[in-house]
Amino acid sequence: MKKLFKVLVLALVAFLVVACGPANNNDGNGNGNGNNGNGNNNGSATGETYEIGVAIYQFNDNFMTLYRTELEKYFGELGAEDGNTYNVEIVDSANDQAKQVEQLNNFIAQGKDLIIANMVSPAGADTFLQSAKDADIPVVLINREPESTSTLEIWPGKTTYVGVDARQSGRYQGEIIAELENSGDLDGDGKVQYIMIMGDTENVDAQQRTQYSIEQLEETIETELLGERLRGDWDQTKGQELAAAALAQFGEEIEVIFANNDAMGLGALQAINAAGRKVGEDIYIVSVDALEDVVNLVVEGEYTGTVLNDHFNQAHTAADVALMLLKGEEVEPYYWHDYVRVTSPEDAELVRKDFRAETIADYEARLADIVDKGIDE
Ligand code: GAL
Repeated sequence: MKKLFKVLVLALVAFLVVACGPANNNDGNGNGNGNNGNGNNNGSATGETYEIGVAIYQFNDNFMTLYRTELEKYFGELGAEDGNTYNVEIVDSANDQAKQVEQLNNFIAQGKDLIIANMVSPAGADTFLQSAKDADIPVVLINREPESTSTLEIWPGKTTYVGVDARQSGRYQGEIIAELENSGDLDGDGKVQYIMIMGDTENVDAQQRTQYSIEQLEETIETELLGERLRGDWDQTKGQELAAAALAQFGEEIEVIFANNDAMGLGALQAINAAGRKVGEDIYIVSVDALEDVVNLVVEGEYTGTVLNDHFNQAHTAADVALMLLKGEEVEPYYWHDYVRVTSPEDAELVRKDFRAETIADYEARLADIVDKGIDE
């Protein structure tokens, strides 16, 4: 009798597992029995096809290549999980504003369901968002923060920026130098003489990394810019040429090279080596992105420091927010991730982290706070 009862209970449990299985778990995690195994049966959103246009400011960019590759891969993973098809068409705007305008207009004319845009010129975002709004196509802006919050007020709820706060990466660069035993002052004259290799000057990342790295360092020690700020367009070869010319002009006077990104920093490192200088002994160099090569150099003591520009989380959040928009949901104007100071390979590890969503009012309050504290301008 007891045995019969046990059999009945087991049968009931088995029935409930089968009956409730698909509702509890839609990823077909391979437990064997019950479901049909492909795990794509999660109700209404399954089996849809979405057309997504992605315009990248330039394919020839180390960081944006990591970002773009991750974005494409992750859309594939999302489709495998939810049973939808995300057709992602990614185009190279080749750092050409006119070309990008044409590409974005094409996406609109084709009636894409959603557009992800890495603007060549953030100043062009307003016109584009207005056209996207007229065509009812939601937009996720990435990598190049709009110059003003008003850009995201053109079509609230259906347009958003996913990124990182470049002020933070600037401060981390300044901190890395400030925390050296001599705070970067190799010749002991009480001042850090430096050169600054910028990305493209109209880019918020370039402006804020330049400003905040120095402001942060100046909380510890005086600084002196040698020559003009240099424009390296995020490019390794340009970084190398600019650093070589500056090293020839200023020689030993240069104590620190700040570069707005690692690619230009790697170029500058080639110039440093060619000039017979030695990082950590008679010069320092710090930049942003945490490209694998640079992280390795930092670990080996051949590069002073870098900051992780988390392409992994930015790409994942951009796609997750895109999915919300595709489902017709309203989204926040800003989604942020953090930069990370990198001193070991673990710091640069790519693991999924929570984003921080922010309203325009919150962002403006945060800015006002920064100005109040005198950190800005
Ligand atoms: C920055 C990145 C640079 C470059 C730039 C392009 O965030 O650090 O390496 O990719 O974006 O806008």
